[in-house]
Amino acid sequence: MENDGMENNPSSRNVLRKDNSSLDYGKDSGINLHGVLHVYSGNSVASYAENSERQRHVFHALQSLFQAAIEKLRFPQEGPLRIADLGCATGINTVSDVDFVVKTLRNLWRDGHSNGGGSVAEFQAYFSDLPSNDFNGLFNLLDRPASPYFVAGVPGSFYNVLFPTSSIHVCFSVMALHWLSQVPQAIVQKTSPLYNKGRVWINRGSQDIAEAYSKQSESDLNAFINCRAQEMAPGGVIFLCMMGRPDSWLPTEQVSVGGEFCGQDFEDAWDELVTQGIISSDLRDSFNLPWYFPTAKELRRAVENCGVFEIESMQVFEQVPSMPEEEFEEYIRDPKMFGLMKSNLVKSFVGSLIEAHIGKKCTDQFFQAFAEKAAALLHCSPPSRLVTCTVSSLIRK
Ligand SMILES: C[S@@+](CC[C@H](N)C(=O)[O-])C[C@H]1O[C@@H](n2cnc3c(N)ncnc32)[C@H](O)[C@@H]1O
Repeated sequence: MENDGMENNPSSRNVLRKDNSSLDYGKDSGINLHGVLHVYSGNSVASYAENSERQRHVFHALQSLFQAAIEKLRFPQEGPLRIADLGCATGINTVSDVDFVVKTLRNLWRDGHSNGGGSVAEFQAYFSDLPSNDFNGLFNLLDRPASPYFVAGVPGSFYNVLFPTSSIHVCFSVMALHWLSQVPQAIVQKTSPLYNKGRVWINRGSQDIAEAYSKQSESDLNAFINCRAQEMAPGGVIFLCMMGRPDSWLPTEQVSVGGEFCGQDFEDAWDELVTQGIISSDLRDSFNLPWYFPTAKELRRAVENCGVFEIESMQVFEQVPSMPEEEFEEYIRDPKMFGLMKSNLVKSFVGSLIEAHIGKKCTDQFFQAFAEKAAALLHCSPPSRLVTCTVSSLIRK
């Protein structure tokens, strides 16, 4: 039998209500987003391990920027050099990203480029994600005979302080910071004028609702930057890469046609469940994706508000390849295969949330419908393997 990573996760079991009733994701509701969210562990077709190649590809495409940022690091005078990966998930990406950082640091130190720092011989890596992340799965991958660094898991939200004051030298977060701390409260309250009726996200939706998301993102980005301001050592470096959008795009334009994970096909799949009587329209309406893809301007504002970081670089890249071209061409020649690939990909990182909202059986039906909708839409709206990312390197003054 396939293990989709859900039944082994105690936090997921705890939040599923027996009656499968609607669960909101906000401070006033019965469920805390951070107690539920996790990528699917294990090796099933919808596991993150089987579906994180796209994120890996994005990291590789932007790796030289990260390397340039690391070269600016002022090495500590003594003690271990501490590295933190925020929103690390579980799987091979997590390990290879930190391997890359440690290798880059070792080379710099060996070549005498420690920017006035001391001689650092030891590296301590902190892998941090929400408590519902499969840390045991990650630790199994890290159990190597001659690990090039010490490791520790740090459960908690990156919207809180996670480390002692001035203790971190290199901090990074890849494809995670577009996850909000919560869906804005007004969106999920049925009596609110901002109730997101008939939709599950803000892309090409109402301007007012998108504005509420934008405010939530502003408050979250401020919290994130302020927490890092406390934790980073002077001369320390932060590298951030998240789903983003160009400055000229409105909050209602989260993704370009084609280059999207959860576009019209995602909305259509929810409608299909309602039409077939599998879920009520109220249950659909009370689900909302906790995502906002910030512009460079929006991120810059949070950094400048905080005032303790030098902005080394801050850019939006509109055409980051998330898959090799030949592989992508192969997928789009076969709509059924394309639909399945897209459905498994999205399920690997959003499935846990949907499961907490509508239960496992309906979630499987949802992703079947999503695969069909994605396949059907292939002809009318050509997909793209290119994604838009907001990327920044910061140095702690
Ligand atoms: C798509 S995965 C990216 C994982 C990995 N960095 C990579 O590049 O493959 C996003 C991760 O962000 C985590 N995440 C979302 N919100 C978070 C928060 N507030 N604090 C910590 N982690 C969070 C999720 O649990 C998930 O593991």
